[in-house]
Amino acid sequence: MKILFLGDIVAKSGRTVVLEELPSLRRDLKLDFVIANAENAAHGFGVTDKICIQLYKAGVDVITGGNHSWDKPEIIPYIAQEQRLLRPLNYPETTPGRGVGTFNDGSGRKVKVVNIMTRLFMELLDDPFTALSRELPPGTPKSAGFEAIIVDIHGEATSEKMALGHVADGHASLVVGTHTHVPTADTQILVGGTGFHTDAGMCGDYDSVIGMHKEASIANFRRKFPRERLTPAVGEATLCGTYIETDPTTGLAARIEQVRLGGRLQRQLPEL
Ligand SMILES: [Fe+2]
Ligand SMILES: [Fe+2]
Repeated sequence: MKILFLGDIVAKSGRTVVLEELPSLRRDLKLDFVIANAENAAHGFGVTDKICIQLYKAGVDVITGGNHSWDKPEIIPYIAQEQRLLRPLNYPETTPGRGVGTFNDGSGRKVKVVNIMTRLFMELLDDPFTALSRELPPGTPKSAGFEAIIVDIHGEATSEKMALGHVADGHASLVVGTHTHVPTADTQILVGGTGFHTDAGMCGDYDSVIGMHKEASIANFRRKFPRERLTPAVGEATLCGTYIETDPTTGLAARIEQVRLGGRLQRQLPEL
């Protein structure tokens, strides 16, 4: 199975590159399933139902979130009823929405998607290690009836994300990080067969500070008062993500590649 995971879509620039490029990527790479993190899709903060619908139409199957999932309050009734929109699993039980789902690809194959948030330099949520372990099968994805299991680890600390990757090794197809908005160069297949990438990077304008207007962000680092309101950078975005092919006998990763397309970052696409 060929799967693409897209990192945090940031504001209009990020949405534009995804809406313009994903239909042809889906066709050219023969993708079976696409997941995108959209916690920053609405002007950098949160996501709306209208944006989710645009992303589904462009070829996204499932949308994940993070600490910014709640920035647009109108998402709350939508996330409560839309199965294809996830938020981190380890929020308190009363939080609207869900952190895990099982979906079918176009051929009826089952794909499980899990969205977890870390705790170092983040909000204090329930233990992500326990939350993740509960969702993993004792054996491979295939042994539990899944063609693939994809885990979005939303977090700041590379150490915590790598540790969670090792916890899932042998049981998930892909563990991929989001939230830092910078792609890391460590795509690998872990010893037990799980594809791992510490951070997929953002789909956004890299002439910025993690997708935000650079002057305002620099000003906030230089002086603490008065604070500038951060607004998204509006230049051409780079689409950033992680591509995997699964082994049909196990559901583990047979191949993992970075994807970078458009904008300022070096282009990188899987060779067919
Ligand atoms: Fe983000
Ligand atoms: Fe985040």
